[in-house]
This record gives sequence, structure tokens and C-alpha cells, in this order.
Amino acid sequence: MVPQGVRHPATVPVRSCHDRVVGPIDPAFLDEAVDLLGASHVVVDPDVVAGYVADWTGRFRGSTPAVLRPGSTEEVAALVGLCRRHGVALALQGGRTGLSGGTVPLQGEVVCSLVRLSTLEPDGPAGQITAGAGVPIARLQEAASALGWAYGVDLASRDSATVGGSVATNAGGIRVLRYGDTRAQLLGVSAVLGNGRVVTHLGGLLKDNTGYDLAGLLCGSEGTLGVVTAARLSLVRASPERVVALLAFDTVGAALGATGELRASLGALSAVELFLRPGLSLVCEHQGLPDPFDAPHAAYLLVEASDDRDPTDELSEAVDALGAVAEVAVAQDRARAAELWRYREGHTEAINRLGPPHKLDVSVPISALGEFVERVTPVVASLRPAAALWLFGHAADGNVHVNVTGIDPDDDQVDEAVFALAASLGGAVSAEHGIGTAKRRWLHLSRSDDEIAAFRAIKSALDPDKILNPSVLLPPAEEGSGATDPS
Ligand code: MLT
Ligand code: ZN
Repeated sequence: MVPQGVRHPATVPVRSCHDRVVGPIDPAFLDEAVDLLGASHVVVDPDVVAGYVADWTGRFRGSTPAVLRPGSTEEVAALVGLCRRHGVALALQGGRTGLSGGTVPLQGEVVCSLVRLSTLEPDGPAGQITAGAGVPIARLQEAASALGWAYGVDLASRDSATVGGSVATNAGGIRVLRYGDTRAQLLGVSAVLGNGRVVTHLGGLLKDNTGYDLAGLLCGSEGTLGVVTAARLSLVRASPERVVALLAFDTVGAALGATGELRASLGALSAVELFLRPGLSLVCEHQGLPDPFDAPHAAYLLVEASDDRDPTDELSEAVDALGAVAEVAVAQDRARAAELWRYREGHTEAINRLGPPHKLDVSVPISALGEFVERVTPVVASLRPAAALWLFGHAADGNVHVNVTGIDPDDDQVDEAVFALAASLGGAVSAEHGIGTAKRRWLHLSRSDDEIAAFRAIKSALDPDKILNPSVLLPPAEEGSGATDPS
């Protein structure tokens, strides 16, 4: 199962905010928004609006007077102009599958949903597609496949996650080791900056050294600088033959060691995903799946290889050469491969059923991955002995999804300790989910004062009125670094 929508557990509290910039909304604003977008795209019905104010995990909840649904870049530009005139801030939303609370109107922002921007313009000869911000990743993948190509980014939330959201967060997912993250696919964007300017660079030139890489800057900026309305994306060669295997190990260290060996030995490797025994048991229970092996094991790797020719023999040879594998299950057909993937992709949904999790998506250098996994358990247990810890992730990327359940949504101590551990090992407080609202207090663990000052300078230049995603990425001024100019 993949994230399909937003849940609203009644127990989730409203998060406090420290840098409120959003005031009461001018009633004339909504009248002008109706003139601009049409009444059907200015949603104020509280029952409908309620579906847009919490994140998918249920940990973060805000409020909004309205949800606006522009249908073109021109309408987005006009809307940004309207917001600037009225001093109204926007919370930008795509498929709302983000896991750092980055789409939540925490300060009463007006929600701007980009899902109507759903055009797809394939360019088969170039192996490229221009996709509207609201196109779901699964639809993009299908369009690429129809051209005989593939889209290099894939993630469990593919049915709901959108092109705009994935560009805004520089989404990673399960094939980064093979094709890189979203930024690596991105050739250009169309975007409306916070200052009202429309920047469009969608020519798809492979060689284009004509100044600043605005697409690269907007990618990963989490909607704080501009509203991405379309993206020009590079496609990758389709690899029609695919084989999936589940490997069991009796220690986490053995699984991580095997990850490195597989990267070195298996040219067709396209994914190496890690999960541990507690997570597997939870997924089996939640989805009614049988245990994949007769005996329990400490750690598992879901390994996928893909190529022009059937890579089964190549995969088997590489697995045979691994020293420490306890058991192996190889999928002989697509249905079994999908079943094996469910053991990994079922984690997010199964964990969410336990109550709003703290999702601490970190990355560490590959050489420190074993130490991180070993040390994070006592770090969490010493602070909150009753909490449950779930570890899974993209092993070849050094990306661990540290999920903690059984602690209050507002209790940040575990978050801080886990981020500090990752940072002490040379890691990042966000690997692929973005900073959102969940992590902005800890941006300084991964970025220096001078870097954050540069972020603020860029923000001021491109969004001078702070109308785009004011609750996201940059730390509140009184808490965060880089707030003052040393000159
Ligand atoms: C994943 O890899 O499954 C996603 O990043 C979702 C998650 O962390 O829960
Ligand atoms: Zn992930």
C-alpha cells in the first residue's frame, strides 16, 4: 500500500508557531480569488477544507480559510500577485505525501493546491517529458514507458506524489543508487517566484551553460522561493528484465556489508532496501502477509536488478559470493516480485497505524551506517524507554528512515538526539524528505551559519514578502542561525 490521502486523528494537537507572519485575511482577497480562478476552484467549505490542513502522518495540523486550485502557470502568477497585494501567505500542496509537514498551513496560510496542473508533453526522440506540477509520479512513469523510456525516480507514494512536490523536495526514493535523485533528472522548470516573476526554461538542452541553474536552485527549496508549475525531466533507458530477491541476515552489520559487496559486483543493481525484524513483523501483521522465511532473522535486504537481458543469473552469482546470507527468496515472476516489495513498501503505512510517528529521515556516510544503526537504538531507549523504534531505508544511499512511535507528537527530544547523532557522524538531518516544518529547528546541524545566511538572502531576493511556505525550511528567525549579517 502507498500513502493515498490524509488522515485526521482527533488526538493530533495544533502545533505552536514561533514566527507568525500571517495575519487575518482580507475578505476582498477571496472575492478576487473567485474572479481569478472561478468559484469552483476557491474552496471554503469547512468539511472539504479540513482535508487539506494536516499532513499524511497526522503529526502536524494547521488551519486555513480556503483552498485555491489554479489551473495554469498564468493563474498561479496572478494568484501570487494577489497574495502580494493583500499580504496573504500560501501553503503549497501537491499530492500531500510529504513526511516532514511541509504542506501544512501551520500559520493559517491559504492553501494552494497544484493538482490541476496536469499536462504531459512527451518528447520521445529526446527521451524527455515536460510535466505539469500536478502530474502524479505513477502517471509520469506510465507516459515514459509508453515512449519506450523510463522515469528514473520511483517511490512508494508514486500514485499520489506529484511532479511539483517531488521537484520541490528533491525526492529520492528507491533507485537513487542507479539514476540519482530528482535534481539529477531535472533539465528545467517553469515557476512563479515569490516576487511575482515567471521563470520558464523548458527547452531541454543537454548542454546549456547560460547562467544560474534556477531549476537546480528551486529543486529542494520546498516551495520557499517559487511555485514550480512544470518540469522538464530527462528519462532513462527502460530495463525490461527485472529480478527481485529478498535476502535475510543474522546481523545488521552483515546486511550492510552485503550492500557494499552487491554495489561492487552487480552491474544491473537497481535497488537495495534495508529493513529489520520488528518492521517485517509489523508489516506482515498489518497486511496479513506470511513471513517470507521459516525462521526469523535480524535484518533483510530487498535487492532488485534490472537490465536488457534477464539478470537472474548475474544476481544469483553475486548473492552466492556474499559470505553472510542466511536465507534467500528469489521472485520468479512479477506477482512474487510485487509481493516481496510489499514487505519493504508496507512499512510506512503499517507504522502510521500505530499513531503519528516521528519520521526522522537521515543519511550518514556509508562508512558510518553500521555505527549509526548500532548507536541509535540506545539513544532512543535512554530518552524514551517506552517508545518503539523502526529502522528501514535505502541502504546503498546511506539513508535510514528512523521512525519512532509511542511518543507525543510535540515531544522533540528524541528527534534532537537522533539528528545530533547523524550529524556527529557526518550525516544530514534530511536525506530525501526535506526539512519541512518538522526539522527546521535542526537545519543548523547540517548547514553552517554562513550557509543559512545565504539561504535567507536568496529567500529575501526571490520571495521578499515571505508569502511562499513561511512555515517551511528556514528556521524561525529568533531560533535559527544565519539571521544576522556579519558585515
Ligand atoms: C520510504 O522510503 O518508504 C519513504 O521514504 C517513506 C517513509 O520514510 O516512510
Ligand atoms: Zn525513503
